[in-house]
Amino acid sequence: MRERIQRVIQDIGGLTALDGICDKAAGRVQWVTRPTAVKNALSGTWLGHPVHPALTDLPIGAWTTAFFLDLTAGRASASSARRLVGLGLIAAVPTAASGASDWSDTYGPTRRIGLVHALGNSAGTLLQAASWVARRRGRHRLGMALSGVGLGFTVCTAYLGGHLSFALGNGVNHTAFQPTVSDWTDVADLSELGEGQLVRVTPGGVPVVLVQHEGTVFALSATCVHAGGPLDEGKIVEDGCIQCPWHGSTFRLADGRAVRGPAAVDEPSWEVKVTDGRVHVRSSTS
Ligand code: FES
Repeated sequence: MRERIQRVIQDIGGLTALDGICDKAAGRVQWVTRPTAVKNALSGTWLGHPVHPALTDLPIGAWTTAFFLDLTAGRASASSARRLVGLGLIAAVPTAASGASDWSDTYGPTRRIGLVHALGNSAGTLLQAASWVARRRGRHRLGMALSGVGLGFTVCTAYLGGHLSFALGNGVNHTAFQPTVSDWTDVADLSELGEGQLVRVTPGGVPVVLVQHEGTVFALSATCVHAGGPLDEGKIVEDGCIQCPWHGSTFRLADGRAVRGPAAVDEPSWEVKVTDGRVHVRSSTS
C-alpha cells in the first residue's frame, strides 16, 4: 500500500505533459499576486507563518463535521450539516487563494503534484457546492452522498499537500536546521566590502551574506528562508533591504525582517563587529 501510494505520487511528479498548463496557470497567479500587499496577505508574511496550512483546517473541519452529522443524526441535523457545508465553501476561497499563491512559486515535480492537489481540491469543493444546493432543495440524501464523495477527494488531496510540505520541503523554513555560531568569527577584510556589494562568507560552514550599506556592515544568512535561494546573488533594494533572486522575497538588512513574500518567516540576522579593519560575525542572540 505504502509503496503503491509513493509510486503514484512519483508518477504524478514525473508527468512533464502537465508543464504547459502548470506554467500558464502559475504565470497568471504570479501576475495577480504581484502587488506586495496581495503576496504578503496570501503568503502569511504579515503573520510570520504560512497561512495556507492553517486555513486548510477550516473547510476540512467543517466538511468532516457535516459528514459526521450526516452519518450519526441524518435528517435530524440536516440544517446544521447544510450550514457546515456552506461554511466550508466560504473558507475554501481564501484557502485556495493562498495555496495557489504558494504553488505559483514552485517548480518541476513539486509544481506538477501541486497542480493535481489543486485539481482534486477543486473537484471536492464543486461536489460540496452541489451538495449544498441539493440540501437547500430538500434533497438531503443526495446532498449527503455528494458531500461524502467530495470529502473523499479532499482527504486524498490533503495527503498530497502533506507530501508537498513534509516530503518535498515546500513551504518550510530553509534555515531551520542551520547551526548557530556563537563565537565571533573573522570572515572578511572591511576593504573587500564595497558599498552595496554582496559578499558570501561561511562562518562555521554556514552561508552568510555580508553587505555594507550606508557605512554600516550587515550580515544575514545567505540561504533564503523561503526555498533556499542564494541571497548573495540578490540585490539591495530601497529602504535598506535585500531581495532574493528566485521569487523576490525581501528582507530588512538590519534585522532580517521579511517585508515582502513569498517568505513568511524572517531571515536569520547575524551580529557584526569590525576590529582592526577585519569583519567578525556571530549568530544573533536576540
Ligand atoms: S527562494 Fe523564494 S524568495 Fe528566496
